[in-house]
Amino acid sequence: LDDDIAAVWEAVINGNAEWLANRVLTFNLTKESVLHEIEKTPRTRKEKAFQTILKNRTFHGGILAKGSGLLKYGENGKGIRSRWYPETLAKRFLNLNHFAGRIDFRCDDGLKVLREFATNPDAVYFIDPPYTAGGKKAGKRLYKHYNLDHERLFTTCESLKGDFLMTYDNAEEVKRMARNHGFQMRSIPMTNTHHATMEELVVGKDLSWMDEFPAVHEP
Ligand SMILES: C[S@@+](CC[C@H](N)C(=O)[O-])C[C@H]1O[C@@H](n2cnc3c(N)ncnc32)[C@H](O)[C@@H]1O
Repeated sequence: LDDDIAAVWEAVINGNAEWLANRVLTFNLTKESVLHEIEKTPRTRKEKAFQTILKNRTFHGGILAKGSGLLKYGENGKGIRSRWYPETLAKRFLNLNHFAGRIDFRCDDGLKVLREFATNPDAVYFIDPPYTAGGKKAGKRLYKHYNLDHERLFTTCESLKGDFLMTYDNAEEVKRMARNHGFQMRSIPMTNTHHATMEELVVGKDLSWMDEFPAVHEP
């Protein structure tokens, strides 16, 4: 749904991955150059894509939502450049370019897309909704589009012929919904932006295949 993020994917799909990679590689990143760049009104989608990448790499925690700000000290006191890895970013864009033709990107409501493919037994889904269930506020702070009817998402998942995997934060409300809809769940460790290990919840139809991994357990 997020138009800033959509601009990045559209740039990749529309053949501008190399342009983006080049832009990243040749950009001389300073606080002044970042401010100058993100204050511009983008004239093209690919320029908007570059602005999104810049913001994601220089704002606290990569957060694009309102209220976020530029890194002051960054990681290891490296300030605004602490998460700017131009070679790695460029390589990712060039790698994506190889299979851009196989991606059908849509800036749309995910629930609508789920319903569109619901009767297709060959469709599989990875769903990573904003974490706002159970009154948790992280999703609100992190994403521009954080409003989601979680109960409706679970109901829609029940109607899917194909398999799905959904990640959530480990909240009572989420576990209750998973149980009510007859889904399985597992806790897995994940590292957050502050490098702390937290438990994340995976929800699906049959997750027994996950039990061979030692870090996985039932919540
Ligand atoms: C947890 S984030 C996904 C992060 C992503 N998987 C990644 O690794 O970068 C949740 C995203 O869902 C988007 N979103 C919220 N409601 C949506 C909806 N109804 N349809 C599609 N996307 C939605 C938000 O804009 C947010 O970017």
